[in-house]
Amino acid sequence: MILLTLFLIGVSVLLYLYEKTVKPKNFPPGPKWHPITGSTPTVKEFAKQFGGTHKAFLKLSEIYDSNVIGLKFGNEATVCVSGESLLKEVLMQDEYQARPINFFSNLRSFGTNKGITFTNGEHWKTQRRFFIRHLRELGFGKQKMDFMITDEVNKIINFMGQNDLHEIKTIIGTSVLSILWTLVAGERLEYSNERLQNLLTLMNRRSKVFEMAGTWLNLFPWIRFIAPKASGYELIMNINNEMKELFKSVIKEHSDTWYPDRKDDVIYAFLTEMHQSSDETFTEDQLLMLCVDVFFGGATTTSNTLDFALMCMILYPDIQKKVHESIDAAYTNCTLPHYKDRHLIPYVEAVICEVQRYYNVSPITGPRITLANTKLESYDIPKGTTVLINNYAVDHDPKLWENPDVFQPERFLDQNGNVTIPQHFNPFNIGKRKCLADALARSCIFTFFAGIMKTYTLSLADKSKPLTGIPLPGITISPEPYIPCFTHRCSKN
Ligand code: HEM
Repeated sequence: MILLTLFLIGVSVLLYLYEKTVKPKNFPPGPKWHPITGSTPTVKEFAKQFGGTHKAFLKLSEIYDSNVIGLKFGNEATVCVSGESLLKEVLMQDEYQARPINFFSNLRSFGTNKGITFTNGEHWKTQRRFFIRHLRELGFGKQKMDFMITDEVNKIINFMGQNDLHEIKTIIGTSVLSILWTLVAGERLEYSNERLQNLLTLMNRRSKVFEMAGTWLNLFPWIRFIAPKASGYELIMNINNEMKELFKSVIKEHSDTWYPDRKDDVIYAFLTEMHQSSDETFTEDQLLMLCVDVFFGGATTTSNTLDFALMCMILYPDIQKKVHESIDAAYTNCTLPHYKDRHLIPYVEAVICEVQRYYNVSPITGPRITLANTKLESYDIPKGTTVLINNYAVDHDPKLWENPDVFQPERFLDQNGNVTIPQHFNPFNIGKRKCLADALARSCIFTFFAGIMKTYTLSLADKSKPLTGIPLPGITISPEPYIPCFTHRCSKN
């Protein structure tokens, strides 16, 4: 009897494991699904070999000769799409506008499943609309934002002029956090401010631990019960708690000083909505996650793009020279360039576009989840399939770009030297889930980059260690760490 029971258990386990390897009918081609790990080993191996998950997906597209690849991560059937027309289809169609709600999204949202990035349906629509409306009302996308950013650029230029050596990542990271802090909490903070430094440390620690532990924890969430420390789960929870406390204390200060109709920053505007609206999604938990989403979505993306742009100036001295010539031709005095006047220095804008194409900081976007059974090319995609979008594949597609692996800002200029943006270039994506703060990010990147380049010539502090230009992989790709030298060319006004 015991033997029979053991036999039946064994057969059931084998059948269960076998079932995990079976792909749905007419699913897109892709590597083998292993019983427990799915396609993870293949993707990880390719990512190591070719320099990042985006390149692994591109390689798989080549091997299977398909713009849509069928994969499995943990228990989740996943497809990764590349190719201009397929990307557009996914970004624009309603079936693809939701996010998967799983262990990872729960961990990211401190167990609340609130915020904007990882919410769906009416909750997502209301909160996204609220945030965009308040960005506009607070003057973001308009002159008020422009002046606030220029003020921050003045601060960073002064700091760079002190001749102390710092990794560029720290200088830029602090500045971008400072801008986001002003947006959310209204305060202008000095770089040495304890809260700002604390937030920077937490963001850096978080991105490191998520990179190390995030994938494995998402694949096998149960390992947190067996090995909470070794799996990184305990550390993630500690960092989450510290971040929660930081934002809770700011929200408390705002609650204590709030008065009806007060809307001078995102937190006050939210508290006003909370008091006045009958919509049940306006809660304190939602406010906390909204703050977190602004920092998770905006900090590393913006600062890494700027970091790459400055790195390219060191890597390509000829391009740095042309940037200086373009700025000097338009600005004879020491006024810092404003975003609204970007047409005066088209070469600078073209360099930024090329940085966003060549080093797209979010080479894979999403995740999305299919809301209905659907089709991609001739393949069937069942409802509930996770969808990843390979933006890198489009940004480096030789059918769309001449010499895509060459850094060449001129590709964004027409014969008259004006900036021209091809339809297939969308670093903030398109459609209902596109970045909700692209105006802020664009203005920030342009004003910082043009201001720094107007004032300084950049070189490497330690010339014995030349830059390779090879990005470090991650959810958001980043430049290799380097310490720059800033040589003065023009004083700020
Ligand atoms: C260079 C800077 C940035 C880049 C390249 C970037 C890129 C993107 C992309 C591609 C998406 C869409 C993801 C998808 O289609 O699934 C996105 C969404 C998002 N971004 Fe940005 N972003 C940047 C800056 C910012 C900033 C400054 C903020 C906040 C102030 C922000 C907040 C968000 C949020 C909350 C979402 C989620 C939108 C939703 O799910 O409805 N981003 N971003």
